[in-house]
Amino acid sequence: MNTRIAYIIALGTVVLLLWQCGNNATQQQQTGTITPLQNSWDIAVPHQEIPEGLTSLSAASCGACHQEHYKEWQTSTHAHAWTDLQFQSELKKETSPFMCINCHIPLQNQQEFIIKGLIDGDIYKPVKEKNPHFDRALQQEGINCASCHVREGAVMGPTGTEKAPHRTVKNMEHLSENLCISCHNANAVITPTLACSFETGDEWKAGPYFGNQNCISCHMPETHREVMPGFGERKSRFHNFPGSGIPKVKGAETGMLNGFAFYPQEIITKYKVGERVEYTFKVKNEHAGHRVPTGDPERFFIIRFELRNALDSLVAEQEHRIGEEWEWHPLAKKLTDNNLNPGEERSFPFSTEMKEKGSYSLAVIVTKHRMNEETAIYNKLGDDYPLFITVFEKEYEFSVR
Ligand code: HEC
Ligand code: HEC
Ligand code: HEC
Ligand code: HEC
Ligand code: HEC
Repeated sequence: MNTRIAYIIALGTVVLLLWQCGNNATQQQQTGTITPLQNSWDIAVPHQEIPEGLTSLSAASCGACHQEHYKEWQTSTHAHAWTDLQFQSELKKETSPFMCINCHIPLQNQQEFIIKGLIDGDIYKPVKEKNPHFDRALQQEGINCASCHVREGAVMGPTGTEKAPHRTVKNMEHLSENLCISCHNANAVITPTLACSFETGDEWKAGPYFGNQNCISCHMPETHREVMPGFGERKSRFHNFPGSGIPKVKGAETGMLNGFAFYPQEIITKYKVGERVEYTFKVKNEHAGHRVPTGDPERFFIIRFELRNALDSLVAEQEHRIGEEWEWHPLAKKLTDNNLNPGEERSFPFSTEMKEKGSYSLAVIVTKHRMNEETAIYNKLGDDYPLFITVFEKEYEFSVR
């Protein structure tokens, strides 16, 4: 989500003071009316008891039996929703309000404090109480198995099977795309310079896939396998939640989906001096059930053309960007948005006049970016934090006589 939060220095200082007060709720001297939490993302999933038949809520403990699910989940960004460097860096900023954690460590069991309300409705004045059931190890797991599966002392599952050693309840209403949307759709201006804007759920509802394919059918593809060794095959779904494919840690394995299909045009191979090379690269959002990019407004794609001569020197370059542009100061405001809708196609031209004889190569490179370098430096993410991946590359040769 957006997080390039602009600072108002004066406000920041006040906020820092309040934040520290807020950390010691028992000694809190603040006066004012305590107002209840209102938005869904203000509220953690209430305290969960360990379902009968189990000894822990941790993903590691589920993984003792559900080995493949556990291995897959470990490669997902859900498993890194808390430990992610960028998230930790942003959380430390005094402008980040208490509710940031509710989609990243959703269970109250994972949270150090219980939030009882807000003083005078101010998001920077949460009324905090120490959580006696806080489990630090569980916090590290981010969005773990229990985040999605454990409710009211039972494991919510698609069949309610009697074979499980733990209390199991069939609940497909809970395990529907609405579970995904509860976190993957938020559009709110929290403070003038802090806006949450990701609307993957709304984009999907407005698009052509609504009613036939959903978050789960695309991001948790179906398979047939044992969900615990020795228990026989059954219908199952992969749990690595592939998405952008940009890993969180250099070299780490993470699932990737490609929303775009690329249609590179052929190129004329012989030109005369003074003629123009005209080339078109077509991109279509063929596979995503929402806009691409979606979610975090900092995501973007770059389509880059590089024309080089026989000595490999750059003769011409052109770039196109697909993504949103925001202004964070003095008010958070979206300036432009040319994300591709589901099914939408767009052509990106390259055109230049050839001035000298010789042989040339034209390269087309498409890269998918998590954020720009400026933001990475601002958040001190270091050189090991992957900022982009290359999703398409093609080179053409031609000559000018
Ligand atoms: C001691 C082994 C064991 C542990 C630990 C365990 N499970 Fe299971 N679980 C099973 C078995 C066995 C089944 C039934 C397998 C089958 O249907 O083939 C099952 C079934 C399930 C199902 C499918 C239920 C349905 O309705 O079809 C889910 C979901 C599930 N477990 C989640 C979890 C979660 C989450 C945890 C950790 C909090 C966990 N399990 C811990 C053994 C275990
Ligand atoms: C028709 C299949 C399809 C459906 C339906 C679908 N997705 Fe996606 N989703 C994709 C593909 C393909 C990508 C990869 C886009 C890319 O980066 O090229 C993607 C990417 C994403 C990303 C990564 C965001 C980014 O821009 O890098 C998130 C998050 C996501 N989807 C969540 C959801 C949620 C939540 C839903 C349900 C509301 C959903 N998706 C429905 C296919 C689908
Ligand atoms: C982001 C939410 C989410 C997380 C995290 C998650 N699951 Fe699931 N899981 C689901 C959904 C949704 C289904 C049901 C899919 C369906 O059948 O439509 C499911 C189904 C299952 C099933 C039934 C069999 C199958 O494969 O479909 C098992 C077992 C299971 N999960 C175990 C786990 C374990 C173990 C973990 C942690 C390592 C985990 N899940 C993490 C959402 C999640
Ligand atoms: C408790 C909140 C929550 C729920 C429920 C949830 N997600 Fe997520 N999801 C997140 C967060 C937070 C991230 C980003 C973690 C990060 O980047 O550190 C994420 C990341 C993702 C990504 C990867 C995005 C990328 O960068 O490529 C995909 C895909 C995704 N979720 C799909 C789903 C689907 C499908 C479901 C429903 C089965 C679901 N999510 C349920 C909060 C949630
Ligand atoms: C409504 C749920 C929700 C809340 C509240 C929330 N996030 Fe997120 N966050 C998400 C989801 C979903 C993603 C993944 C978005 C995507 O990849 O499309 C995410 C991703 C992120 C990322 C990773 C971005 C990246 O490039 O991979 C960071 C950092 C982050 N959030 C910080 C924050 C901060 C700081 C706050 C508080 C201001 C916050 N989040 C509040 C749901 C939430």
